[in-house]
Amino acid sequence: MIICICHRISDRDIARAVREGCASFDQLQDDTRVATACGACHDCAHQRFHEQSAAGHRGEGLAASAARTSGA
Ligand code: FES
Repeated sequence: MIICICHRISDRDIARAVREGCASFDQLQDDTRVATACGACHDCAHQRFHEQSAAGHRGEGLAASAARTSGA
């Protein structure tokens, strides 16, 4: 799912950035440019980043996180 329309950043892009060691939302913005244009995606991107960070600490992958988010 596309999170940031301005820079075409998806939830998978955010998950990948976290897996590759992105440790803060500021760093995510530097790495991907998410939420650096109109800002409409900021809250959603921020939430996704923290969900992915928490899932990473629990050893979960994107699928488990997405299933939990969607209620599946
Ligand atoms: S939708 Fe992400 S900066 Fe505009």
